[in-house]
Amino acid sequence: MKKEILGKYILQTATPEYAAQQAELQKIVFPTLSVEELMTEAQYKKHMEIFPEGQMIVLDGDTVIASTTTLLQNYHTGHHTFLEISDNLWLGTHDPKAEWLYGLDVSVHPAYQGKGIGREIYKARQEVARQLGTKGQLTAGMPIGFDKVKDQMTIAEYCEKLIKGEIIDPTVTAQTKCGFILVEPLFDYLDDPRSGHCSVLMYWPLDKDTVLKEKH
Ligand SMILES: CC(C)(COP(=O)(O)OP(=O)(O)OC[C@H]1O[C@@H](n2cnc3c(N)ncnc32)[C@H](O)[C@@H]1OP(=O)(O)O)[C@@H](O)C(=O)NCCC(=O)NCCS
Repeated sequence: MKKEILGKYILQTATPEYAAQQAELQKIVFPTLSVEELMTEAQYKKHMEIFPEGQMIVLDGDTVIASTTTLLQNYHTGHHTFLEISDNLWLGTHDPKAEWLYGLDVSVHPAYQGKGIGREIYKARQEVARQLGTKGQLTAGMPIGFDKVKDQMTIAEYCEKLIKGEIIDPTVTAQTKCGFILVEPLFDYLDDPRSGHCSVLMYWPLDKDTVLKEKH
């Protein structure tokens, strides 16, 4: 994939010469995430070998301003963590016959957030999901807005309000605006105090009649 978006950036399949920049971007976009959960240059290069269609970047000139990593997986009936679903970020868990495109992250550089780039990436992922004959996208979004209210409620209460649509979260609300439907919180999904170590499991089906329910 390679196309112009928003009249000035290029959204394209990731290629190895940009892997070092992708790794640097991770550190900027996820400043409180544990080091073990930040993707490295070597891991990005491995993703491109394992599942090239699922790896994308957005360029402003020759600078990587956004990036996403995905793999193919089935919907899990048990709890899982970020490191489990990603084979410790190496993508050994990619299953070419699986039913869903599972997004591990979308990273938009803070200077470029809120300009429509995230939406373009989620749309491009949905196109890949369609081309590969999957049911759509799954992801676990980080409720990073919890950090601001952590003295007022627990992460479980925060997620409950989020799922009921009673509060706005910078990440999870953006994802629902792009098309995702929230399922349930995955507690202890990753090691990031900003989101209470939690992520919210969500999906964006290609067929609107596909419904995923809580099973965890
Ligand atoms: C979450 C993220 C991927 C969204 O990408 P983005 O380029 O900033 O978002 P967009 O500009 O494409 O906005 C998409 C929609 O979300 C909404 N949105 C964006 N930021 C928002 C915010 N802070 N609060 C509420 N809604 C927001 C936009 O209004 C837009 O909806 P609309 O078109 O109906 O108005 C990006 O901000 C990011 O990288 N955040 C930090 C890392 C992260 O949390 N990644 C995702 C989880 S792994």
